Amino acid sequence: MKQARNPGARSRFEKYMSKLADRAAAASGRMLYKRGVRFLGDPEWRAPYEAELAADERPGKPVHRALDRRFMVVQLAESVRGLSGSSAECGAFRGVGSALICRALEGTYGPDDCHFAFDAFEGLPKPVEADRAKTGQWWSEGDLKTDRDQVERLLSPFPHARIEVGWIPERFPEVGNRRFRLVHVDVDLFEPTRDSIEFFFPRLVPGGALLLDDHGVISCPGARKAAVEYFAKSGEPIVELPSGQAIVWKRG
Ligand SMILES: C[S@@+](CC[C@H](N)C(=O)[O-])C[C@H]1O[C@@H](n2cnc3c(N)ncnc32)[C@H](O)[C@@H]1O
Repeated sequence: MKQARNPGARSRFEKYMSKLADRAAAASGRMLYKRGVRFLGDPEWRAPYEAELAADERPGKPVHRALDRRFMVVQLAESVRGLSGSSAECGAFRGVGSALICRALEGTYGPDDCHFAFDAFEGLPKPVEADRAKTGQWWSEGDLKTDRDQVERLLSPFPHARIEVGWIPERFPEVGNRRFRLVHVDVDLFEPTRDSIEFFFPRLVPGGALLLDDHGVISCPGARKAAVEYFAKSGEPIVELPSGQAIVWKRG
C-alpha cells in the first residue's frame, strides 16, 4: 500500500531543485547564508522595523541586498539598550541606519541623550589614494548624494534625533562632551572613516560598540585601512562579519 506523504516533507524534486540552486549560488560566489538561517525569513525581528526597512526598497533592486547589514544594526543597537549615552551615525545617506538605531533604542535615551546623524548631503568627498580599490574601481567625488528632507521624514517620529549637516569632522566638536553607546560609521572612504573613529571611539562608554559598515567591502579599501591603522595602535580587536561590517567594542 502506498504511504501517505507527510505534508511538511519536501519531495525529491524539491530537494533536487534546492540543491541545484545552492550549487549555482555557491559557484557564483554569492551564497553567504544557509537556507535555514533564521533572520532572512523571520518576521519576529523585522516586525518593529517594517517602516524603516521599507525605506530601503528601490524599484528593480532586490529588497534583501542590505538585509543582513540592517539586521546587524538592529542587533547591536538592541544589545546596548541597557547602557546609557547617545548614539550616532556618520554618513546618514537616506536615514535608514539612523532610523533603525532610533527605533531600537526608543525609550532608553536619557533626557540629555540624542541620536546624531552626520552627513553633508553633498555626496562623497574626493577620494584619496587609499580609497583606490585593487580592481581599479573607486568612488568618485559626489557619489551617493541624497537630500536632507528624506532623512528628516524618516527621523521625524524620534524626538531625540538630530541631523548634523556638514562635512565630517566639522560638526563633531558640538558633541565633544557627550558619551556614546553606539556609533555607526558608514562613510565609505579613508579620511572620514579615520576622523570618525578617532573622534568617537574614545567617547564610547564601556561596553559600547562601534559598527563599521564598510570594513570588509572590496570597494572601500580606505575605510578598512583607517580602522586597521587605528586599532593596531589602540589594541582592540576588530571583529569582522561576513556581511562586510565589523564591530569594535569598548572595553570596560
Ligand atoms: C553609504 S552612505 C551611508 C548609508 C547609511 N548609513 C545607511 O545606513 O543607509 C555614505 C554617506 O556618507 C556621507 N559622507 C561620506 N563622507 C562624508 C563626509 N566627509 N562628510 C559628511 N558626509 C559624508 C555621504 O554623503 C553618504 O550619504
